Amino acid sequence: MASETFDVSALQDEIDALAAKVTKQGAEVRTLKKNSASDADAIGAAVKVLQELKISQKELLDKMEAATGGKDAFNRQVFDELILRKMFVIPSFEIHGGVKGLFDLGPPACALKAAMIDAWRKHFILTENMLEMECTCLTPEPVLKTSGHVDRFTDLMVKDTETGECFRADKLLEDAIDTLIENSPTMPSEEKEDHLRIQRQADAFTPEEIDELLIKYECVGPSGKPYSPSFPFNLMFKTSIGPEGTSVGYLRPETAQGLFVNFNRLLNYNAQKMPFAAAQIGLGFRNEIAPRGGLLRVREFCMGEIEHFVNPADKSHPSFPSVADKSLVLFGREDQLGSGKTKTITVGEAVKSGLVNNETLAYFMARTQLFMERIGMDPARLRFRQHLETEMAHYACDCWDLEIKSSYGWIECVGHADRACYDLDVHAKATNTAMLATLKLDQPQEKEVAKLKFDRKLLGKTFKGDQRVVSGLLETLAEDWTTFEPIATALESEGKTTVDGFEIEKDMVSWTKTTKKVHEIKFTPSVIEPSFGMGRILYSLLEHSFYQRDADEQRCVMKFNPQVAPQKCAVLPISSNPEANAVVDEIAQSLMESDLATRVDKSTASLGRRYARSDEVGVPFAVTVDFETLADDSVTLRERDSTVQIRLPKSDVTRLIFDIVHSRTTWEEAMKKYPVVTVNEDGEAEKQVGATVIEKTSRGTFSRPAEKI
Ligand code: ATP
Ligand code: GLY
Repeated sequence: MASETFDVSALQDEIDALAAKVTKQGAEVRTLKKNSASDADAIGAAVKVLQELKISQKELLDKMEAATGGKDAFNRQVFDELILRKMFVIPSFEIHGGVKGLFDLGPPACALKAAMIDAWRKHFILTENMLEMECTCLTPEPVLKTSGHVDRFTDLMVKDTETGECFRADKLLEDAIDTLIENSPTMPSEEKEDHLRIQRQADAFTPEEIDELLIKYECVGPSGKPYSPSFPFNLMFKTSIGPEGTSVGYLRPETAQGLFVNFNRLLNYNAQKMPFAAAQIGLGFRNEIAPRGGLLRVREFCMGEIEHFVNPADKSHPSFPSVADKSLVLFGREDQLGSGKTKTITVGEAVKSGLVNNETLAYFMARTQLFMERIGMDPARLRFRQHLETEMAHYACDCWDLEIKSSYGWIECVGHADRACYDLDVHAKATNTAMLATLKLDQPQEKEVAKLKFDRKLLGKTFKGDQRVVSGLLETLAEDWTTFEPIATALESEGKTTVDGFEIEKDMVSWTKTTKKVHEIKFTPSVIEPSFGMGRILYSLLEHSFYQRDADEQRCVMKFNPQVAPQKCAVLPISSNPEANAVVDEIAQSLMESDLATRVDKSTASLGRRYARSDEVGVPFAVTVDFETLADDSVTLRERDSTVQIRLPKSDVTRLIFDIVHSRTTWEEAMKKYPVVTVNEDGEAEKQVGATVIEKTSRGTFSRPAEKI
C-alpha cells in the first residue's frame, strides 16, 4: 500500500475550474442559439468547444472516481451480502427481530479487530510509553455531572407529529440538502456550495436555527406532517447502581473520564514526569437517536482513547520533528466556510502557519494518519476536518476529525481534541482535590504574589461548611499576582466580587503584594485527546479492502494486508490423498505454533474455488500441497492479490509468512528468492490449475509435469 497521500484537492481544483468553463461555454452556446443573427458555423464551433470541455470533464471525474474509489465503483449490494455471508458483521439478536444500532462481530471481524487493536497498542501505547488503564463502563452520576455530560451531551431531536417517530434534526437537514442537490443537476456551482456550507454546519445550529432550516428545506415527517420543534435529547443510557435504586449511574459515553479522575495516581506512577499520556481501549455507549449505516452509528462501540497531559504554556512535542514532513489533507474551518476545498500540506507547515493550533495536536494527527496507513486504509480516502467554532464539544478549544471516505460519504472516525484544562479543572473543583503537575525550574524565579489574611470568623459565618473551599480558592489565585489582581481591584472598587460562584466581600480578606522566590511552578495540565472509534475504522477498512476480481461478483476479494488479515495463510491439498493431507496438517500446525492463524480447506471443491473462498475472507497467502510435494517436499505459495505463486521447500513456509506478517520481509523479496511458477487459475480450475508450470527464474527453471495433476 502506498504511503503517499493522494492530492485529491489539486484534482478537485482542476475539476472545479473545468466545471466553471463548461458553465460559461454552455451559456455562450445558449446565447448564440437564441440570437437569430448567429450563423450556423459559429454555433457549431461553440458546441464543439463545449463537447470537448465535457469530454475533459468526464475524464477528470473518472480519474477522481478511480483515485477515491468513487461511489459507483463500489458495489454495496455485493459487499453487504459478503459481509453478512462471511459473518463479518451480523445484526444482534437477529432471530428476535434485531435492535437498531446493535451489531455482533463474527469470526473474521473479531480477528481483524483484534489485529487492529494490537497494531494500535504497538503504534501508540508501546512506542510512546503510554500508561494503559481499564476503567469501568458503569459511571456514577456525579462524575458525568461534573464533566458536563449530564447537562450537555445531547443531539437535537424532532418527532413526526403524527406517529411520534424520532429523528436527529441535523441528519434530516443533511439528507434534505443531498436530495436537493441530487435532484438539481443544473444547479449553479455557487448555489450548490451555499447549500453544502449549511450542510457542513448541520450539527452546529441552535434549535431555533435548525427549525427554520427544516422548514426552508421543506422537510416533513414520513406521515407527511411537519416535524415537531427540535429539542435536546441526552444520549447517555441511564441506570441505577445497587439494589436500592437510589444511586443514579450511566453507561459511559466515552472512556476518557476514567483516566481524568485517576490523574493524580497516573502522575505519581509516572514519577511526576510531564508530559505523559494515558490510554484506554474499551466500550462506549450512546443512545443514538437514529442509528444507521451499520457499524458507523451504533449504540455500543469500542473506543481507543489517548489523553496526553501537557503544560498549557508549552504544547511542543519532543517527537514532532519525526513527523514534521508528513503530508496531510486538511480541511480547515475557513475553507469549509469559504472555498470548500482541502489543502495538502506538511504537518510542519500546518503548525507554522497556525492552521493547526499546536505541535502536540498536529503530532497526533500525523501519528493517526500513519496508523491508518499501517493497517491498510486507502490514504486517498483520508482527510482531517477542523471543527467549526460552533460545533466543538463543550470541553474543546481546537478539534480536528480524521474523516474516512466510504460509500456513506466522509465519516468522522477519530476525533483529535485539545480539551485544554477543562476536565482536570472541573473534577478538581467538584471533589476539592488538587489536580496539578509541577514544573521544576532550572533557576529559581522571583514571582509576584499576594499574601492573604482572612477574617476566619466572617468567612465561617458566611460560608459555613464551604469556608475552607473559599479560602483555598483564594490562596490558589494568590499564588500569582496576575490572577489575584482582578479580584483585588474588584474588592477595592466595588467592595465585593464573585469567585467560582462564591460572593466574597472586602472585609473577609486583606492582602499585601509581595515577591517570593519559587523553585517550581504548579499548573493544571491541558489535555490533547485522540479518540478512535474502532467500529467505524473497522467498517471503513472492510470497504477499502473490498474489490471484485475482474469485476466478477462471484470473485470478491478482501485485500487485508498480512499484518491485520484475520487469517494469514490457507493450506490446501490438491487431492484427497492421505499422504498429502498429512503434509497439510503438518504445515498448518507449524504455522499455528508460530501464532499465524491458518485456514485448512480439504474440501473437494476445485482448487480455484477454494482460492476464491479464502480470498473472500482476505487470507493473503495460500500454500498448496501437490504431488510434487510428496516427491521433493516443495509446495506452492500463492499471493492473494497478484495470484502469483512461488515454489519453496515446505520447511521454509512458516518462517517466510512469519517474516512477512511481522514486516521483516516482503512478498517482492520472496519472489526474488524462490522460483516463480505460472499457474492458470481461471475457468475449469481443477483441470487447468497447475497444468502449466514452467518458469525461468534467477534460480533456474522449475517445472511440474501436467499429467501428475
Ligand atoms: P458523531 O458526530 O458522528 O456523532 P461524535 O463527534 O459525537 O461523532 P466523538 O464524541 O468525537 O464522536 O467520539 C469519538 C469517536 O467515537 C468518533 O470519532 C467515532 O469514531 C466514534 N463514535 C462516536 N459515536 C459513535 C457511534 N454512535 N457509533 C460508532 N462509533 C461512534
Ligand atoms: N498452487 C497450486 C496451484 O494453484 O495449482
